[in-house]
Amino acid sequence: MADTAVDSTPANDALPGEPAHVIVVGCEKGGSGKSTTSMHLTVALLRLGYAVGTIDLDARQWTLTRYLSNRATTIQREKRKLPMPRHFFLAPSEQPVRDEARAEDRARFEAILEKLRGLVDYVVIDCAGTDSYLARVAHSYADTLVTPVNDSFIDLDVVAHVDGQTGEMARPSVYAEMVWDQRKARAQRDGGSIDWIVMRNRLSTLEANNKKEMADVLQRLARRIGFRMAPGFSERVIFRELFLQGLTMLDMFDDKARPDAARPRMSHVAARQEVRALINALQLPERRPRARQTG
Ligand SMILES: Nc1ncnc2c1ncn2[C@@H]1O[C@H](COP(=O)(O)OP(=O)(O)OP(=O)(O)O)[C@@H](O)[C@H]1O
Ligand SMILES: [Mg+2]
Repeated sequence: MADTAVDSTPANDALPGEPAHVIVVGCEKGGSGKSTTSMHLTVALLRLGYAVGTIDLDARQWTLTRYLSNRATTIQREKRKLPMPRHFFLAPSEQPVRDEARAEDRARFEAILEKLRGLVDYVVIDCAGTDSYLARVAHSYADTLVTPVNDSFIDLDVVAHVDGQTGEMARPSVYAEMVWDQRKARAQRDGGSIDWIVMRNRLSTLEANNKKEMADVLQRLARRIGFRMAPGFSERVIFRELFLQGLTMLDMFDDKARPDAARPRMSHVAARQEVRALINALQLPERRPRARQTG
């Protein structure tokens, strides 16, 4: 599939204001919660009144694209007013010559990002769970990088290899080295920096010991590798059960007028609080909200 835009706004539609702040959600580990985090961050920012652009770089799964397309269907079918981002998806070039493929990937990515930067307040980019040239370019454009890691020592390996005896870092992971390279690329390009945030995902309400050990090790790694910790998401059914409707728990609270609407439960309130806590921890720079899109 070539790069395809769901959005059809002409580039000269750009609004005056600061260029969008770019949030990349990346982790070279499958199933760590990147797409779930991308979707919840997107809806949270939309519901705060911001215009949001989204880019899906996961050409094998298109999870975020499918999530948003399910949302568009819900809007149409149920005549609901739900905020929508301006969404793009971008597959790697199929050029056989590597350097040409890379040049094409970079050019397409930069064109989409350039367009979105003038149109929205925040851009959220969902990366695939593997290393790719496109993902590396995207990381180099991050103002904020969010890395979700499942709450287990196996998954922590994606950040750093930890000595089992001492709990200290033996060496950084290839992913941490890649982030380091993209930080350098970013600094060389425009003098900017990447604020790297690691968040734990699927936190269990049990397993208090594992939770504390993980927290201690991560805290030490944060200083060594140069990231900040954010409070994560607990393991909750509500983080996954609304995918087919394209909804999140954040959409459930202003449906009071709909008699058939599922009523938010305590666990939904707690989940919404976790998403809000993540947004707060990201310490995103303030933007004067541009007009957002509603379905
Ligand atoms: N906090 C959570 N509570 C419950 N389920 C979750 C949570 N976070 C993610 N999941 C589920 O875990 C699975 C993987 O999540 P997700 O697709 O977001 O990961 P990913 O990092 O995008 O994966 P990939 O690397 O394949 O792109 C999905 O089934 C998702 O619904
Ligand atoms: Mg994904």
